[in-house]
Amino acid sequence: MHQDIAEILISEQQLQAKVVELGRLIKRDYEGKNLLLLGTLKGAVPFIADLARAIHLPLELDYMAISSYGNSTQSSGIVRIIKDLEGPIDQKHVLVIEDIIDSGQTLHYLVDLLRRRNPLSLRICTLLDKERERVKQIEIDYTGFRIPDRFVVGYGLDYAQRYRNLPYIGILKPSVYSETAEPEKEHQSPAERG
Ligand code: IMP
Ligand code: MG
Repeated sequence: MHQDIAEILISEQQLQAKVVELGRLIKRDYEGKNLLLLGTLKGAVPFIADLARAIHLPLELDYMAISSYGNSTQSSGIVRIIKDLEGPIDQKHVLVIEDIIDSGQTLHYLVDLLRRRNPLSLRICTLLDKERERVKQIEIDYTGFRIPDRFVVGYGLDYAQRYRNLPYIGILKPSVYSETAEPEKEHQSPAERG
């Protein structure tokens, strides 16, 4: 285990088993449909890479990078597109692949924006769903794991851009946070997130 990790919340084996399970569900639901997996950069990259290989259907992959504006303690829900999709989605069944849903603000904005582009359908798949009160309500169609309201890293998730390459989901040791930049504040800062 990495020295900065206090506890492994979800092991590599648990992640892989869940990916296989989700892949089967998604295959069943999208058989015969024009499926586009839309990954959010950067956090969802390991998840979408594994999940795409567990969905035994023809599909397309594309990515969006979005960043949230906010003050030091709260994200505003106003989102900027850093990288957009390559083409229109009006002939596609879009499945958004997210790493984690926290307040729900970022995803709420993204879903709003995508709906206006008239996809054939729009659903959401998130690896992690934090058990906390949502600022914005969103309906999630596929969930990997519900986790406690703790700051986690690994398998795509970062703290200050680090730990994304850990193969498991872990809880960061509090000693890693500096006094001025707790992760709660860090990940809601105006800097690029995801
Ligand atoms: P929200 O749902 O708009 O509050 O923001 C979700 C985004 O915040 C995610 O896509 C992550 O980039 C980031 N985030 C939220 N919780 C965590 C965490 O525990 N670890 C790492 N990033 C997180
Ligand atoms: Mg993200």
